[in-house]
Amino acid sequence: MTVSSTFPADFLWGGATAANQIEGAYNEGGKGLSIQDVMPKGITTPRTEGPTDDNLKQVAIDFYHRYAEDIALFAEMGFKTFRFSIAWSRIFPLGDETEPNEEGLAFYDRMIDECEKYGIEPLVTMSHYETPLHLTDTYDGWVNRDLIGFYERYSRVLFARYGARVKYWLTFNEINSVLHAPLMSGGINTPKDQLSKTDLYQAIHNELVASALATKAARELAPNAQVGCMVLAMPAYPLTPDPDDVMASLTTERTNLAFGDIHVRGEYPGYYLRSLRDQGVELTITDEDRALLKEYTVDFVSFSYYMSVAETADDSKRVIGEGNIMGGVSNPTLKASEWGWQIDPVGLRIVLNQFWDRWQKPLFIVENGLGARDQLIEIDGRKTVNDDYRINYLNDHLVQVGEAITDGVDVMGYTPWGCIDLVSASTAQLSKRYGFIYVDRNDDGSGTLDRYKKKSFDWYAEVIKSNGASLTR
Ligand code: BG6
Repeated sequence: MTVSSTFPADFLWGGATAANQIEGAYNEGGKGLSIQDVMPKGITTPRTEGPTDDNLKQVAIDFYHRYAEDIALFAEMGFKTFRFSIAWSRIFPLGDETEPNEEGLAFYDRMIDECEKYGIEPLVTMSHYETPLHLTDTYDGWVNRDLIGFYERYSRVLFARYGARVKYWLTFNEINSVLHAPLMSGGINTPKDQLSKTDLYQAIHNELVASALATKAARELAPNAQVGCMVLAMPAYPLTPDPDDVMASLTTERTNLAFGDIHVRGEYPGYYLRSLRDQGVELTITDEDRALLKEYTVDFVSFSYYMSVAETADDSKRVIGEGNIMGGVSNPTLKASEWGWQIDPVGLRIVLNQFWDRWQKPLFIVENGLGARDQLIEIDGRKTVNDDYRINYLNDHLVQVGEAITDGVDVMGYTPWGCIDLVSASTAQLSKRYGFIYVDRNDDGSGTLDRYKKKSFDWYAEVIKSNGASLTR
């Protein structure tokens, strides 16, 4: 049964990517190295000293040279928006220079030209797991307050250059993931098991202040721009109705909700301050920091949603499943993807309602999707993939988005992750595919890099064209 469309007429349908997972050209155009150049296996192994040839991200899907062809395919699907990140190290190759790299800036000019050609609204992430490596090696990443100034300078360059053409900006991808992946998310060189809690939470504070300063820069340089935070959303249900499990789930959820609370309300919530005290963490927070956080709050809240987890106070019941950067206790009622991520469409409706009730800010779903192994087949001389599993996953999640909209939640748009196949962040594989467009490249680096439309390509085009009315229950 199809559902009548509840999606607003200006709903921003599109797709999402990140520079380090698509661009390749890791050392072209004056680009400096980023932390991704020393993470050839994602977060599954420790970083390497320098770049290594086995790193698929060096070429990725060669978007740097093929962006025009790819954006044309997005336009063919009817995209209203395209989420991409600007690689910080293309603009400031080391991160701490005073002058930007013009060749890097010119590349994103050309990309934005291409989006404008089709009326596609760019949605730009300013920092998506690609801190310049020099800032990691020399400053220990976001642990060091100096990064606030470097990021502010970078943000000012971006707003001055693109502010009139780009309306939607996200400051840090999945800012809460630094709790679990300090190197990838926070550019922190100190290995996780040696990182003190004080340094970790100071890094978080520094990023939050930098996010506020970027919002201030936007207000000054790009008055029409809207700035959003971006959090990894993962509801943690109580494993049982035991009040101790309910409290445990609330405590786990708050580790993530704190980031939205601070971005939206402009101050640290009491439960967060208590948790810092309980952990013996004493932060350096200046009066100016407090004033910035309070004044420069976000215009909207964006988030990724792939899965939910369960939580329990009973350690003997803690069966930890795999997950999206952060794992969690497995929920026995849910099935999982091939990578162990538990699939829960209703969880998306729950998150949307929870965030709306809590913050009353427009919400943007900027990542959602199914990583799966695809089989390239030939039908009537045309290569394609029969990815009904992906269609089902996206359909079921979008039906829940429709429900949330009917519940009264203000949802700005939906950009499924990896609208074109790309290199995975956690495992650095190409075989973990998310796209509507198949890219002929394999985990061993072989392949032509040719693009093929999957079955989901036409399906998504129809969803966009019908503004969601073609979704089925
Ligand atoms: C999010 C990240 O965590 O999930 C993306 O913002 C990432 O960069 C996506 O690619 C999917 O995760 P993975 O590990 O399957 O690529």
